[in-house]
Order: sequence, then C-alpha cells, then structure tokens
Amino acid sequence: MAIVLSLLAANSSFMAKENVMTVHANKIISDVSPTMYGLFFEDINFGADGGLYAELVKNRSFEFTQNLMGWNIFGNVTLMNDGPFNRNPHYVRLGKSAHPHKHSGIENEGFFGMGLKAGNEYRFSVWARGKGQRIRVELIDNDSMGETQVITSKKLEISSDDWKKYQIILKPEVEEKKAHLRIFLETEGNVDLEHVSLFPVDTWKNRENGLRKDLVQALADLSPDVFRFPGGCIVEGTDMGNRYQWKETVGQVENRPTNENRWHYTFPHRFFPDYFQSYGLGFYEYFQLSEDIGAEPLPILNCGLLCQYQNNDDCQIPADSLDLFVQDALDLIEFANGDINTKWGKLRAEMGHPEPFNLKYLGIGNEQWGQIYVDRLKVFVDVIRKQHPEIKIVGSSGPYPEGEEFEYLWKGMKELKVDLVDEHFYRPDNWFISQGKRYDNYDRKGPKVFAGEYACHVPGKKWNHFRAALLEAAFMTGLERNADMVRMATYAPLLAHIDGWQWRPDLIWFDNLSVMKTCSYYVQQLYATNKGTHSLKLTMDGNVVCGDKEQNGLFASAVWDENNKTYIVKVVNTSENAQDIKIDFKGLKKKLQTKGECILLHSEKMEAENTLENPNLIVPKKADVMVEKNAINDILPPMSFMVYKLTAI
Ligand code: AHR
Repeated sequence: MAIVLSLLAANSSFMAKENVMTVHANKIISDVSPTMYGLFFEDINFGADGGLYAELVKNRSFEFTQNLMGWNIFGNVTLMNDGPFNRNPHYVRLGKSAHPHKHSGIENEGFFGMGLKAGNEYRFSVWARGKGQRIRVELIDNDSMGETQVITSKKLEISSDDWKKYQIILKPEVEEKKAHLRIFLETEGNVDLEHVSLFPVDTWKNRENGLRKDLVQALADLSPDVFRFPGGCIVEGTDMGNRYQWKETVGQVENRPTNENRWHYTFPHRFFPDYFQSYGLGFYEYFQLSEDIGAEPLPILNCGLLCQYQNNDDCQIPADSLDLFVQDALDLIEFANGDINTKWGKLRAEMGHPEPFNLKYLGIGNEQWGQIYVDRLKVFVDVIRKQHPEIKIVGSSGPYPEGEEFEYLWKGMKELKVDLVDEHFYRPDNWFISQGKRYDNYDRKGPKVFAGEYACHVPGKKWNHFRAALLEAAFMTGLERNADMVRMATYAPLLAHIDGWQWRPDLIWFDNLSVMKTCSYYVQQLYATNKGTHSLKLTMDGNVVCGDKEQNGLFASAVWDENNKTYIVKVVNTSENAQDIKIDFKGLKKKLQTKGECILLHSEKMEAENTLENPNLIVPKKADVMVEKNAINDILPPMSFMVYKLTAI
C-alpha cells in the first residue's frame, strides 16, 4: 500500500484535480492572540509529584493517610506526631536495635523507583535531631542481581538535640531507573528524622526544591504563550478537605500540608492509593516557571463547587457563603501582583520574587455546570470587576462542547460578561473532522473562546498515535482562521508517567529517566512556533478550507508573521490519497523569496506512535520549497501535516 501511494505521489497525473488555494495576503482577519497556544497542567498521571517536581522521595513528611506508605521500615522505628512543622507533624524515630547485628532504618521506594544518572549529583536532606548520632544514607539498586545492592553511600553526623536541616551530596557512578533510598541508624541512641528528601542537583535552573530539567525543557520547547494551572478536576475536590487551596502550596516547603490526589481513586481500573500532593510544586513555583518559559499564568480557582460528578447540588457551598473562596481569589492576585508591603506580596518577596508576576487572567471554576455555577461565578465576577478591573476572567462551559448545558452556560457567561469561556472537548476522530468550521459562526460580540482542554480520542489500543495528532492539526486550522474569536488553546492533559498514568492520550510521556514527545506534541509545537501575528483569509474555490465535501479531506489556514516578514500556511491532508496542491498568493505588497521552507509531519502508518523506546519515530522534517510566480506547487502525501514558510522581500 505504501509503495502504491508513493508512486502515486511521484506522478501527479494519477491524482484527482489540483487543489488550488488562495492566500489573500491583503485580507487580515485579525491579530493572532499573544496567548494563543499554551499548556494545561494538572497533577494527573503523576505529572507533579513523581514527574515535573524533581523530588525523588515519596511521602517525605510521613503525612500520607497511612503514614508510612512508600516506606519500608526495619528494626526499631516509631512513628511520632509532635514534629517541628505544625501542618506536617509526623516524623520517625529510629532507635537501637534489639541485637548488635540487627539494624534500624527506613527505605523509600520513590515514585516507581528513583531515577539516577551516572556521575550526576543528588542532594539528600533531612530535618533531624539526636546529638552524637550517625546515620548512613544509601542509594540502592532495589532488584540488583549483582554482588552488592549499594550504588553509593555516605554517613551523616547529627550534631544537635534541636531540629536542624542536614544535607549531603551523593554521586552514583552507575545509572539506575528504579533505585531506592535507604537510611540506617549506625549509633546506639535515638535519632528523629523528618522531611526526608532527595533531589537531583541538576534541576531546571539548578534550583533547590526544583523541577525536572528534561521535562521543563520539553515544555519550554513548546514555546507556550499561556499556562493553565492547577487543573482540571483537581481544582474542585471530592470533598471540602481535598479541594485545591493555593494558600496551602506556598511558604516554607516543609510546612505545606500533604493532600490526597483525587486521581488516586477516580478510575478504579487505574488505582493508585499512593498518589498524594506534596505541593512542593505550588503556586510560587508555578508563577516562576511561567515567567521562565514566557507564558502568561492562568490559574483556575475553586468557585465554591466540589466536583459535580461526585457531589449532589445540595452538598455544595451556598452562593451566599463564598467569602472565603472569593477572598482566596483576591489574595492570589495580591500574592502575584501586590506590593511587597501587602500581606501576600510580602510572602512572594520572602520566597524570592519581590517583583510582581504580572498576573492578568483568572479562571473561576473548572468543569462546572448549571445555574448553581452561574450563581457562584456571579459573586466572584462582581467582586473582581470592582477590585481588579485589570484581571480578565475565564468562565466555564461545562464538560461537553455542545448540547443544552453548553448552550445554557454560554448564555450565562455572556450575561456575566466574562472575558473568555473555557470549552473542553475530548472527542473521537469523526468529531474533530466535522468541526473544521466550529468557530466560523460564533457570536463575535460576547466573550472570546479559550479551548482549555482538548485532545482527539480515537478508540483503539493505541492512544497517542499519528492519526489523533493529524486530526488535531486539521481542527486547529479552524482555531487559527478564527483567531479573532479563539484567543487561547491548550491541549490536555500535558504529562504522564508511563508507570503511573490514569488518563490518556497525553502530550508528553516520561519515565524516571527519559522523556517522549508524542505526535500531538509536535502538532502543538508546529502551531505555537509558527503562529504568526495576524491571521489571513485563505480560500479554495471561494470557500474556507475545512475538510468539506469536494475538498479532498484538506484543511488549511494562513497567517502573516510581522516579526519575521513571513507568510505561514498550514495544510493538513486527512485523506488517504496524495493531494496535488497549489498555493497562490494574491494581494502581495512585496515579492516572495524564491526559496521557502516547509516542515512535514507524516507517518505512513496511522497507528504508528512515538514511544519511550523509539521517541523519534515520527518527528517534523524540514525541506526547501520553491516559489514561482508568487505560488507554490506541491504534492502532499496522504495523511500529512505541512507548514510552509515563505519570506517576503
Ligand atoms: O484532563 C483530565 C480531566 O479532564 C480534567 O481534570 C478535567 O477538567 C477533564 O474532565
């Protein structure tokens, strides 16, 4: 089949008629939003703890519901609960063993093990007390068949009877994906240990309490404009106790309370009872990361509704009792932007960032629905508009991208005059193919669209395969053509640990040592790095190119990039035939350079996907394209996504 198709591609005379598209270079539809493409982050699939947050120790504060979960204890170990951190009171006491040949100690299993790179440094730290005591800290190969389990080991002397932080650097000489951390008491007395931590020294920007460098780099390489955080359903909470409260995620890291992660039990067939949130990656780290990667932060806050799938309306917080929730929103704005003499601005400064983070957007509620949501959102909107007219507010349109509830919420959002409406669509292939014109007829007078969570879910055994990515690329031509209406778009979810996922497909997969970028990742990257500054009219036989009948499965859009004086055209061929295309430029003020660039994302097998073992199976490929008489002629392989870049001179 592949051979037949490439023969077909090589000889355009076998093909159906040429597809002639026109880019109307003098017809600007609108500017492209500076926040157009970005990231949706949620601590799902071990995306934060065990993922982006580089901490290698699980349950470092002994605060999981089962306090010793993640730890193996041996010898004389007692769990205590009057430690130095009032929001994390538990710690362990290691005492003398019953026999001199026996040992007391603890062993941590990490997140599906701990990834160690040969020759890299790892910072072990612990809060401890017990003057004169000595511990031995080891990194071990958990399932070693070799002579010794010990990869590296160091001793640490405890010098005080008061709580104090100690640190040592461990340097393994071998690589190990699933190591454990083991601590022995070597002396005769008691030693108390709290907040037992192990980080790579080589984190993103070498920060202590830092983030995994390879994962952040993968995010930065997406060139994101906007960064939604912390979710997702995690915002809502199964009950009041585990809703996301940003204030619990800032300040001294040792005293940020541990919270249950709802994704540990949401899908019983992917059950992870050891999934908790340490909040080590909290709101300060989030704002800092947004700044690092040049993305506008877009926090989503709880609106006073617990997860509506899991709770009846009568369990919810009444709309007239939202003071605490509204205050949280105001305080977050102060934490991000406030003067350092304000309560929350001062904390930001103490944490290391006296300059404001320039927060401009705030989402209230995640996937909420019904009048119950509109009533609560109204309370927030009234207060925020009055006190912070500079903040743009994002409201929800519920979990589904169409239907009665969706219409009802859009009406509500227009009445409340929110700035953007968050739409979610996890939908199958035929939905993505049929939605090329989704935004063409949206009402331009009301709020704008934030496509806040979306991904093509093609049923089958594989999830992040090429076909899903291709259909996302096709659909996104409609976002670009409607750049006046769609001002933000974020694929979801972002990250997934190969051993700990609950939801798929996801944009980036990883294990303890490596990262894999999916085909969908490359689609997002090609859009974000070629978004241009202005969207242009593009037609074929006078119509927009959106996969309509008679359009041979083609989707296309065009932008002008004022900064690089470049025209960028994206064409997606969703058909199983090669397509002969001509792209003609009309209304040009300047000539096009005769040689342009094209970037192709293509796989001959629709079910093919990148994997951790073979991460570069499907990657974008660059080539030259020739321009003749202000037009390009090309043959698009079946099932392919092409980006053409032509510079004006
Ligand atoms: O992205 C996974 C989940 O999908 C999000 O938490 C939720 O908002 C949506 O239902």
